[in-house]
Amino acid sequence: MFESYRLIYSQKDYFCNMKDNVWYGKDYKVGVLGGGQLGRMLIQAANSYDVAIYCMDGDVHAPCAKIAHGFTHGDIQNFEDVYAFGKDKNVVTVEIEHVNVAALKQLESEGVPVYPQPAILEMIQDKGLQKEFYAKNNIPTAPFRLISAQAELAQNESFLPFVQKMRKGGYDGKGVKAMLSNKDFEDGFDVPSVLEQFVDFEKELAVIVARNENGEIKTFPTVACEFSKSLNLVEFLYAPADISSVIEEKAQAIAKEIIEKLDMVGLLAVELFLTKDGALLVNEIAPRPHNSGHHTIESNITSQFEQHLRAITNRPLGATDIVQAGVMVNLLGEPDYEGPTFLEGFDRVMAMPNVHVHLYGKATTKPHRKMGHVTICAKDIATAKSNALVVKDILKVKAK
Ligand SMILES: Nc1ncnc2c1ncn2[C@@H]1O[C@H](COP(=O)(O)OP(=O)(O)O)[C@@H](O)[C@H]1O
Ligand SMILES: [Mg+2]
Repeated sequence: MFESYRLIYSQKDYFCNMKDNVWYGKDYKVGVLGGGQLGRMLIQAANSYDVAIYCMDGDVHAPCAKIAHGFTHGDIQNFEDVYAFGKDKNVVTVEIEHVNVAALKQLESEGVPVYPQPAILEMIQDKGLQKEFYAKNNIPTAPFRLISAQAELAQNESFLPFVQKMRKGGYDGKGVKAMLSNKDFEDGFDVPSVLEQFVDFEKELAVIVARNENGEIKTFPTVACEFSKSLNLVEFLYAPADISSVIEEKAQAIAKEIIEKLDMVGLLAVELFLTKDGALLVNEIAPRPHNSGHHTIESNITSQFEQHLRAITNRPLGATDIVQAGVMVNLLGEPDYEGPTFLEGFDRVMAMPNVHVHLYGKATTKPHRKMGHVTICAKDIATAKSNALVVKDILKVKAK
């Protein structure tokens, strides 16, 4: 009796804290910097709530261009463009972190809610500041050093083996180089970089966590990512990850601790290394929907895109439980093709049960360009994996 009374009481309490207890309304505008596939899937989720999403991107053929409620052709790194775009929006968010932070700070100071907050974006844009944040807050991460130019690699020979990471601008493995001996120094980047001790990991894991303005936090179950060694890109993602409940709890706790310490509103992807002796180390974080959460569209009660929308508009967060196991594979442009897209094997894959193809609407393919993804669901992860291998074998993005 007492317990159920308390539950009802606390739910009432929660509802009383909601900023706005009505539907968004016809004039409510969400502004998204970037018009890529992450924005496109955010629009798809927002459509269920009849929320208008406005995007800005420098490419008029960006994946969001044709499906956004409003599309602005503009430079997301330019102060004036970002400021003018954000000024009339009810909330501004990002689908890529390399955006003009000064303009977002200006918008924030003028009362436009910007989530993730600009100061957090500024820190995350720089992998050096990210590593310093982990160190300062006792968040487990691999030992690191900071350098400002390639010539300083030689002074760090005793730190070998390590991974050189460009402090700014890297993504999808571009801007990351393993340095296993001093012979690799000549291939190093000549820009300010983080040198991170090489981690001989057992697995790479990821946890997506969301937080709204009320401080409500929810994590998605941990996933495992298998990277292509040559491309540094996710080749297979497994949900759920094959890890012990102890590791699962630790990973969830780290993700919650990070979003709390950042005091962040929105969705945060936390990439982790599970070492061979069972320790977890944070690799990097991304304050937006992420490649490691695409499977949530079919595998979880709430998708990462819907969760991001709920978080940035201060709505109750959705349940994150897994409904069915999923394996996600990225659909990359085949190595030898460039030009207008042609998808080979489409009908054969469409004929497979519980296989979900997502095409990003990019008109032209390039070697290894992310053109879409496929989530293969099943009652168990082993079946999903074997079907994923079939999908990978059949479905190819080529040019006509
Ligand atoms: N310290 C490290 N030790 C071993 N492998 C690493 C290390 N740092 C990164 N990697 C590998 O490189 C990939 C890309 O690095 P990451 O820092 O996540 O950059 P990106 O921004 O390109 O995703 C990681 O997912 C991992 O496979
Ligand atoms: Mg990464």
